[in-house]
Amino acid sequence: MTGALPTGGPDAAGAPWPSTARRRADGELEVGGVGVRALAAEHGTPAYVLDEADFRARARAYREAFEAAFERIGAGIDVYYAGKALLTVAVARWATQEGLRVDTASGGELAVALRAGVPGAAIGLHGNNKSDDEILAALEAGVGRIIVDSRVEIDRVADLAAARGVVAPVMLRVTTGVHAGGHEYISTAHEDQKFGLSVTAGDDGETSPALAALEAIVARPELELLGIHSHIGSQILDPSGFEAAARVVLQLRADLAGRTGVLVEEVDLGGGYGIAYLPADEALEPAPVAQDVAAAVAAVCTELGTPLPRFSIEPGRAVVGPAGLTLYTVGTVKPVTVSGSGADDETFSRLYVSVDGGMSDNIRPALYGADYHAELVGRVSDAAKVLSRVVGKHCESGDIVVHEVLLPADVSAGDLLAVAATGAYGRSMASNYNALTRPPVVAVADGSSRVLVRRETVEDLLALDLG
Ligand code: LLP
Repeated sequence: MTGALPTGGPDAAGAPWPSTARRRADGELEVGGVGVRALAAEHGTPAYVLDEADFRARARAYREAFEAAFERIGAGIDVYYAGKALLTVAVARWATQEGLRVDTASGGELAVALRAGVPGAAIGLHGNNKSDDEILAALEAGVGRIIVDSRVEIDRVADLAAARGVVAPVMLRVTTGVHAGGHEYISTAHEDQKFGLSVTAGDDGETSPALAALEAIVARPELELLGIHSHIGSQILDPSGFEAAARVVLQLRADLAGRTGVLVEEVDLGGGYGIAYLPADEALEPAPVAQDVAAAVAAVCTELGTPLPRFSIEPGRAVVGPAGLTLYTVGTVKPVTVSGSGADDETFSRLYVSVDGGMSDNIRPALYGADYHAELVGRVSDAAKVLSRVVGKHCESGDIVVHEVLLPADVSAGDLLAVAATGAYGRSMASNYNALTRPPVVAVADGSSRVLVRRETVEDLLALDLG
C-alpha cells in the first residue's frame, strides 16, 4: 500500500494531498470525486489537476481567519489572492466568489483578472518594472491600487494619471530588512535585491529611501497615497517575520505622519504563507498566524499612539498550492548504481523513474531545490518500496521532479504517478523547453472534471514561429 494517502472517510485526507483526495477500495486515487484513471483517459498526461473545493475552502479559511482576528482588534482587512501562483479565468472567479480580491503582477495577469469579471476596484497591480502600457491598462481598468516600486515610477504613474485626468490610487512597496522564506530567490525583503525601497536611512542619518518616496508621492496631486506595502518572502513557516515587518511598516507610517501630517490608511503585509510539500511537513495554519499578527500590530499601534490602519494580505501559494497535483504517466524506469564517494559512503541503488513531463511543467526542484512527494496513484502495489528519483523527459540531467521518494519496486511504464502540492508556481512558471507543450489545467469537483486551460499543441508552438 502506498504511503501517505488516506483510504477513505471524508475527513481522512492528509497533507500534502488536496482535501478531497482519497484512495478507492482498489487503490486508485480519486480527487474531487473523479478517479485518476478516468482523468488520464479523458485529458491525457501530464495534467495539472485542481481540486476546486479545496481551493475555495483555503481561500475562505484565509479570509475568515484574518477577518476574525483583525475584527477582534478593531481593524478591517482585505485578502488578495496572489495570482502569480496560478491565474486562470475560473480561478480568479473562484477567488472573488470566496470574497477575495486579486493581486496581479503584470498586464497579462491583469487581463486575466479582468476577463474573469473581477471589478477593477478589487484588483491590485504590482511589478518592479511596469511598462507604460501596463500602468495605463491599470488606470483604464480603475484598479484599486497600483503598488509603486521605485522613485522613478512615482513620476511615471503620476504623469500617466495626469494625462488621463485621473488620480491614481497607490501604495509604496518597502523593504523592511526582515529576511524570510525558503530560498534566497524567494525572500524579498532583504536589501540586496530589486524590489521596493528600503526603510533604512543611510549612515549620514539622511531620510530613508522609503520615507523620501512616500513624501514624493504625497507631493503629487495626481496620486492618492493609500498606504505602505511589505512582502517579506515566500514559503514562510515562522510567522514572527510578519510581525517584525509589520512593526517596521507601522513605524514608517508614524514617521510619515510626524513629518507630513499624512497618516496613511492602509498597510499590506504581502503573502508568503508556507504550505506542506511532504507528508511530514507542517503548514502554517491561517488562524494562529492571523491571531499572532493581529495581536502584534495592535500592540505596535498602541505603543506608537497611532490609530490602526486597514490591513491587507496577499496569499498565493497557501490558497492554490495544496489544491493542485500533477498527474504523469511513467515511462522508462532504470535502476542506477551510485558509488559511494567517501570512506563511509556505501554504494547504493536508486531507481530513476521517468515521467512524461518534467522541468517544463515544474521548474521548482531545479530552480530552488524544492522537494515534492509522489505516489503511484493508478493502482496499489505490495512490492517493497525502493529509493527512487522521479525525473522528466528533458535533455538535462537537472530535470528532476522529485529528488528522493520511496516507490514500489514494480513501478513500470504506463503507471500513473501523481506529484502533490503543485498547484502554485507550477503552471504559472511552466515553459516550452525542448518544445514540450504545456499541460492542461483540469478542475475537479463533485465527481466531474472540467478543462480550465487546454493542453497546448505542437500546432500552437508552430503558430508562433513565423519562419
Ligand atoms: N505578494 C507579493 C508582492 C509577492 O511578491 C508574492 C510572491 C506574493 C504576494 C505571493 O506569495 P505566496 O503567498 O504565493 O508565497 N516562484 C516562487 C515564489 C515567488 C513568489 C514571488 N512573490 C516559488 O515557486 O516558490
